[in-house]
Amino acid sequence: MLVQGTHYRTIWTGGDPFRGDLFIIDQTALPHAFRIARLHTLEEACEAISGMLVRGAGLIGAAAAHGFWLAALQAPDQGFHGFMEEASAALRATRPTAVNLEWALERQKKRIAGLGRQQAVPAAFAEACAIADEDADCCRRIGQNGLPLLRRAAQAHPGRPVEVLTHCNAGWLAFVDHGSALAPVYAAFDEGLPIHVWVDETRPRGQGAALTSWELLQHGVPHDIIADNAGGHLMQRGMVDMVITGADRVARNGDAANKIGTYLKALAAADNHVPFYVALPSSTFDFGIRDGMLGIPIEERSPEEVLFASGALDPGRTARVLLGPPGATARNWAFDVTPARLITGFITERGVCAATEEGIASMYPEALDAGAREQRHA
Ligand code: MRU
Repeated sequence: MLVQGTHYRTIWTGGDPFRGDLFIIDQTALPHAFRIARLHTLEEACEAISGMLVRGAGLIGAAAAHGFWLAALQAPDQGFHGFMEEASAALRATRPTAVNLEWALERQKKRIAGLGRQQAVPAAFAEACAIADEDADCCRRIGQNGLPLLRRAAQAHPGRPVEVLTHCNAGWLAFVDHGSALAPVYAAFDEGLPIHVWVDETRPRGQGAALTSWELLQHGVPHDIIADNAGGHLMQRGMVDMVITGADRVARNGDAANKIGTYLKALAAADNHVPFYVALPSSTFDFGIRDGMLGIPIEERSPEEVLFASGALDPGRTARVLLGPPGATARNWAFDVTPARLITGFITERGVCAATEEGIASMYPEALDAGAREQRHA
């Protein structure tokens, strides 16, 4: 997508499989600075994921795939596969909730199985590039598949913009390009549909205020940042036509893990008969987990993210301030699970389906069969 008129993806390489040049947009600097970071090693890739320089389900998967390639470059010829197993475990340990990370690593491990280091390096490079390309293409198709929902909403409310509420950041910054929840918004805007987005600020990390608002501004999409607790109030007053969020992992039964606070939005949407859609590529389904409430691991992050807030003092100067009394303690669960019964439908790269096992099976019959065979959780 565009940054000051120039097209960027969130992750890219220098193009040479044997030269470990990996580039990312450093999302910890946004929205106050647009900074590109260059990574060369497995360790740097791990730090970029755990430190949230890259974040968002799709991008975490793509970053892990590229980190695996960097690890192959560092690996010794002797004991190559043992080294790669350890590298994969290190990457996997960086963030637990988004399933795209393990999905990408599984693909990489299959791709290099049986290869020596010399063949494995270009193979891992090619697979990382393929994962990034597929992510971008899936998100583009999610946009096309979600567009009719927005067209229908526009027809139902002529004379005013379609009002979409979103939580966290599931735009192009959370993927390689286009995004999941925001892809239909961009498609509608590009088609000329009048559209306006309510952007939850998304405490504690502020992905809505910092990232969603930034990327919508770059594209010119009208929006307002709202306090996390404002959504229910807006829904009660008919000011939200639909909610669209992303997801970090969706179980076979349709339960969807997403940024903390998503569940409360889904409850408010159900109470106010506002459609609640979750947009995701197939790489975010975990067909091996039957029950999302029981099986999806929820990341707990540092209390510091709750106790402190960061922002700009004036151009070029950022600051971190303590919000609570000195000595206060905090807990920081990064995700919650929205039960399938509260979800109107999934917007996927293959189409829109009901948030039920049958609905998902209608979209992904082959994957659901395979998932049933390797089911890990009751
Ligand atoms: O902790 P993050 O920023 O990596 O959180 C992930 C997310 O961006 C959200 O949960 C998002 O809505 C789904 S990921 C596309």
